Amino acid sequence: MGEKNEQGSDFVTLDVNAQTFFSSAPPLKDESDIAKKVKDFIAQNGEAIERRRLIGIVCVTSGGTTVPLEQRCVRFIDNFSSGHRGATSTEYFVKAGYAVIFLHRRGTCQPYFRDIPEDSFMEYFELNDELTVNVRQAHMEVMKSSIGNYHASVRGGLLLKLPFTTIFEYLQILRIVATSMDSLGPRGMFYLAAAVSDFYVPWMSMVEHKIQSSSGHLNVSLAPVPKMLSVLRNEWAPRAFCISFKLETDTEILLEKAEMALNKYKMHAVVANELLTRKEQVIVLISGKKITIRRTEEFRDVEDPLIDLLVQNHLEFAKQLQSNGSA
Ligand code: PMT
Repeated sequence: MGEKNEQGSDFVTLDVNAQTFFSSAPPLKDESDIAKKVKDFIAQNGEAIERRRLIGIVCVTSGGTTVPLEQRCVRFIDNFSSGHRGATSTEYFVKAGYAVIFLHRRGTCQPYFRDIPEDSFMEYFELNDELTVNVRQAHMEVMKSSIGNYHASVRGGLLLKLPFTTIFEYLQILRIVATSMDSLGPRGMFYLAAAVSDFYVPWMSMVEHKIQSSSGHLNVSLAPVPKMLSVLRNEWAPRAFCISFKLETDTEILLEKAEMALNKYKMHAVVANELLTRKEQVIVLISGKKITIRRTEEFRDVEDPLIDLLVQNHLEFAKQLQSNGSA
């Protein structure tokens, strides 16, 4: 932004589709509260980065966005994402020396909770007498480590959780986070693992009330969601280290599509994964290489070596930018 046209008004360089998306989106609830939380988190951890106590701040996006079909939403379009990738990666980023802004879909997998399955949560505890609840011995080790790591990251001020549900909330919060993280220069990182809807119903063309089934066939017209990767790279946080994901169900086109995303959106890395094998293997396109990372006996989670690789590359990137004086 900032250039002037002949009449002296500002040229708005923001992609016109992105602009339309934001200007027509329903206002974000608690926007000022979210912006303050983000600002305070960045200020506090930014100091720790300067004192070299932290490597950087990473925004991890996680889970799927919904697309409402009615303004007073009863029905919506959703996707498969469980949020496991984002939650697991968050744990490894904290361990590696990052503060994490965890932008996640409400109700999806959370960092430090993934070892405690929802359906058997009650099985982890027993009533000792009328007043005390104990953790069952068999689950003690898992609970101790999960609870310990959770409290350490929260008490240390290293984890800020921001929930979203709809595509409107997700992109508006991402914009707040990204424009605030710009101040971190190359010490900021984006790890975009969320499964973002590709199509949506624009707010203005959405019906207000519950769609009536008595009307027979339902035809819904979906508009493409503007790709925000280029806006993020070019406008919101141009000096940050950006990693996007590519998900396909057809192996044949996965790498081709990942390569396209790398070049088109000028990502620093693209993590390519297939739906069915996503927990076992990913291929990282980075610095002109394609690196396959697998879950092995040594690594319980594929995210362990994945985050390690990304952190090494991020450090190299930040060092280079700082020594060029462009940080
Ligand atoms: O959550 P899990 O069950 O653990 O699964 C993890 C995962 C498979 C969801 C994750 O590893 C993953 O691949 N996430 C990206 C899925 C996806 O939306 O892929 P895509 O090819 O549609 O989008 C590519 C990239 O563009 C993504 O980084 C996305 O954040 C971004 N995007 C997408 C649409 C859009 N309008 N704007 C975007 O910026």
